[in-house]
Amino acid sequence: MLNRREFIQLTALGGTALLLEQALPARAQTKKEGRAMSYTAKDYAKLLGMPGFGETLLKNHFTLYQGYVTNTNKVLDALDQLVKEGKTATPEFAELKRRLGWEFNGMRLHEYYFENLGGKAPLDKNGKLAKKLAESFGSYEAWEKDFKGTGAMRGIGWAVLYQDPANGRLLNFWINEHDVAHPAGGTPILIMDVFEHAFMLDYGLKRADYIEAFFKNIDWKAVEARLK
Ligand SMILES: [Fe+2]
Repeated sequence: MLNRREFIQLTALGGTALLLEQALPARAQTKKEGRAMSYTAKDYAKLLGMPGFGETLLKNHFTLYQGYVTNTNKVLDALDQLVKEGKTATPEFAELKRRLGWEFNGMRLHEYYFENLGGKAPLDKNGKLAKKLAESFGSYEAWEKDFKGTGAMRGIGWAVLYQDPANGRLLNFWINEHDVAHPAGGTPILIMDVFEHAFMLDYGLKRADYIEAFFKNIDWKAVEARLK
């Protein structure tokens, strides 16, 4: 044990981290090393105050997102541990491996979603994205109808505008929950959350009103920058 004087000397030399490390049990230290590439939740507080999105709804949504980040790390750690223990043939390994796609996509889709919100300027109808939408759907209006129709479908999930890298075509997809129906190799361009937690607190069952509010806040510059 260090006495108070030694403690002060050590911390004055920048030894706080070292002391904390020593205080951690051995297993926690090992885990910390294993988490060198773990995921960290991003801060989207700048979206608070966005018109049409209540503060409580957004704060709840940020908390839900943080849960996906935490669980992605947990599942990855648990899988890593099972591999180390030679337990890859177990039901636990199989179920956690299935779970990974759900937690990971729950994390990443929320990041795309929050990052394509907070915009104030409308889409530049002569820009690269508008041209590509017209090329792929016939017109911007046709794309918007399709996208909104996708978002209004019964069920929980996501409406995602994807770009097919094989030919550059833009396509709207319905993603069930977080992990079903993503086009392989597709580039996500615009992501809209249509889980009930994304709108019910502010709009009740009026999902169409939420979709209108979402459209008013799209950060079109961020969306266009995702195009390949
Ligand atoms: Fe969500």
